Amino acid sequence: SQYRIGLLIGSLRQESINRQLANALTKMAPSSFTFHECRIDDLPLYNQDDDSHQAAPVKRLKQEVREADGVLFVTPEYNRSVPGVLKNAIDHASRPYGDSAWQGKPAGVIGGSIGAAGTAMSQQHLRNILAYLDAPTMGQPEAYIHVKEGFFDDSGNVANEGSRKFLQDWMDRYAQWVRLHVDAGRARA
Ligand code: FNR
Repeated sequence: SQYRIGLLIGSLRQESINRQLANALTKMAPSSFTFHECRIDDLPLYNQDDDSHQAAPVKRLKQEVREADGVLFVTPEYNRSVPGVLKNAIDHASRPYGDSAWQGKPAGVIGGSIGAAGTAMSQQHLRNILAYLDAPTMGQPEAYIHVKEGFFDDSGNVANEGSRKFLQDWMDRYAQWVRLHVDAGRARA
């Protein structure tokens, strides 16, 4: 079987370490997995008045999430929580009420920071949001990535062997998590 994953990156920054982490990580996935980035930088600010006539980028985001078998969030931590740009995207695709695109999507949460706490609190807040949205989120392994100078090599791969193995294991387990949920759904269909 093939598995299509919607990738959500919580930073709009050109040199984002979380974008680099996403690039390194998705290369570690099984060949049956394809990743499609869900663009979030052109979404309007969420306004409930627009629920009955969602903007084109909002419709696109919802369509992309709906078409995905699973979702992968790679996000920084801003002031001990989820960056507003990511929360904005999550809110958009959750509405109008009763028409959320997130429901039932197996999810993975990971992130990197220049700080030692490695996005732990941001990820915890994100888990809370995803629990409410009924997106089954992998509990273990957790990965709080402390990105120091030289973490990525010139090809964008993880330079340190220990970190590389840790992330490979994380990706293997995430792939297993997605398969578990998607295959069960396909068997029921
Ligand atoms: C940060 N940063 C940060 N880091 C952290 O570990 N915990 C935090 O609470 C915060 N808070 C925070 C707020 C704001 C507004 C900014 C801009 C930054 C630092 C952050 O980890 C660092 O800038 C990363 O490089 C951001 O991720 P990207 O953009 O490189 O993916």
